[in-house]
Amino acid sequence: MSTAKISLRQVRKEFVVRDEGNGPARRFVALDDATLDVRPGEFLTLVGPSGCGKSTLLDLLGGLTMPTSGQILLDGRPVTGPARDRGVVFQQYALFPWRTALQNIAFGLEIARVRASERTEKARHYLELVGLSAFANRYPHELSGGMKQRVAIARSLAYDPDVLLMDEPFAALDAQTRETLQIELLRIWRATAKTIIFITHGIDEAVVLGQRVAIMTARPGRIGRVVDIPEELNSGSDDVRSLPLFGRLRHEIWTLLREDVWETQNQSVAADPVPDRSRKEPVHG
Ligand SMILES: Nc1ncnc2c1ncn2[C@@H]1O[C@H](COP(=O)(O)OP(=O)(O)OP(=O)(O)O)[C@@H](O)[C@H]1O
Ligand SMILES: [Mg+2]
Repeated sequence: MSTAKISLRQVRKEFVVRDEGNGPARRFVALDDATLDVRPGEFLTLVGPSGCGKSTLLDLLGGLTMPTSGQILLDGRPVTGPARDRGVVFQQYALFPWRTALQNIAFGLEIARVRASERTEKARHYLELVGLSAFANRYPHELSGGMKQRVAIARSLAYDPDVLLMDEPFAALDAQTRETLQIELLRIWRATAKTIIFITHGIDEAVVLGQRVAIMTARPGRIGRVVDIPEELNSGSDDVRSLPLFGRLRHEIWTLLREDVWETQNQSVAADPVPDRSRKEPVHG
């Protein structure tokens, strides 16, 4: 038996797409042959060119969509849908527009049947953690993009899931807030032993946060190399970025990514025609 927290076994995800409104449907391979084990309590960061299937992979892990083939195991059991053991921070903030910031954070706690008094206390604590105490009673449309994202992060942390799945959670933040939250996330990770999968476009961010950096390649999306990051680089301290080791790893990852970008540009998009019977399938989009 495997001791992995999360196991991907040759996971493939296809979408049925149409290039023109009434044109023929075809299968599009968003993710192919993804195989990876994530250890319990590991912090794994995931980088890759835009459109290579990172969010697709996270949706699969969250149980929001099912793989076309292959297997996704959590604690050795197949993922069959979303559950409270996994907290997801989406690339686009997914807040309830009719709830205030505080009420959004309290939402997961309601589902978890936490008592009302405790709920508010906890929600306030996490709101403070993301620096938004003064905005407790604001509705999402009254918050900036970065603020909304911070509320979403607080919400996913508040109900204390085993696994955190984070899709570019800090992308919309200013540099200072981003660094504060990176340090805070590392602190929470150390204190709680959560397993974290964190998608980012920032190579620096991937190296600073991850114990390993998985590099995805495009068309079809695959998990390519996985680079180990020595522990001294995940300290959350400011000086890390000036270490020669940091520079070397960043360059290595950058080179691997760049090679893939060149290859992608010189390749045509693989397109398998869809057999007639599937023409009636709903088109996702
Ligand atoms: N529901 C869907 N139906 C059809 N195609 C989809 C669907 N979702 C994603 N795709 C396609 O799958 C590919 C991977 O998309 P995905 O969102 O996973 O990329 P990504 O790596 O997260 O990109 P980014 O870095 O820009 O967020 C893209 O080509 C996208 O157009
Ligand atoms: Mg994405």
